[in-house]
Amino acid sequence: MILVTGASEGIGLACARALLERTSFSVLITGRSQAKLDRAHAAVPDSRRDRLGTMRCDQSRSSDLSALIGRLEHGEPLDGAVLTVGANPTYEQGPRRIHALDRATIESTIRTNCTHALLLSAAVLDRLRHRRGGSLVWIGSRASIVGLPGSALYSATKSFLSGLARAAHNEYARHGVRVHVVHPGIVRTPRTAAVADEFAARHGLTVADPSDVAEQVVDLLLTQGPARVEVCL
Ligand SMILES: NC(=O)c1ccc[n+]([C@@H]2O[C@H](COP(=O)([O-])OP(=O)(O)OC[C@H]3O[C@@H](n4cnc5c(N)ncnc54)[C@H](OP(=O)(O)O)[C@@H]3O)[C@@H](O)[C@H]2O)c1
Repeated sequence: MILVTGASEGIGLACARALLERTSFSVLITGRSQAKLDRAHAAVPDSRRDRLGTMRCDQSRSSDLSALIGRLEHGEPLDGAVLTVGANPTYEQGPRRIHALDRATIESTIRTNCTHALLLSAAVLDRLRHRRGGSLVWIGSRASIVGLPGSALYSATKSFLSGLARAAHNEYARHGVRVHVVHPGIVRTPRTAAVADEFAARHGLTVADPSDVAEQVVDLLLTQGPARVEVCL
């Protein structure tokens, strides 16, 4: 089974659909809204739908995270994971320079993107270590490399995944576990729909499609070639 978090729409859903299409694994997707998860499930072709499971899990909530970790420990054996959840307060609050960040936003963003991402990653890595194989892909962001002005908190929490990935590679490669952090540029998803074209034009970028990101994520999950821990798309 492959776990894909934050996958009722956007990049996560595209990854889940590509995994169902290109592999024979079952796929478990998570999100906060069960209604969105149900819609994503219903939209998958009939022939693949029985391999797609859903679990409501808000990564900002400790109790939800514990339930997901419990399922990884006691449920269907885990073959890999794509962890996409990443809170970005810029979408709710607009750009904010570092001196204007409030404590509640700092704490909640770090809890979701770092503390809870790390707890979930630890559970995944432990499963894969015992299995002696499998892959973990985190979805980072090019914002962490450029240090996007007005999005320092988001950029910094995405950088956290880079350090985590490099350390995880050094700790678990000898157990046959492959890890990758992928940094997309701007991708057209429901979250970015209103801003993607203007953002891309301002920064000289091309807007990617979630399916392009997903194909590269699945390539990484399936590859047996030399380890590519950090991948800038
Ligand atoms: N789109 C881009 O241009 C871009 C570029 C670089 C990196 N990224 C990163 O790629 C990842 C996916 O981004 P996206 O654009 O596809 O959209 P997104 O809005 O970040 O993610 C959408 C999915 O995540 C779920 N989700 C949101 N918050 C969650 C939470 N706290 N717990 C569990 N699920 C949650 C949503 O379902 P619910 O609403 O039901 O929870 C939905 O299924 C993020 O980490 C983002 O930072 C995106």
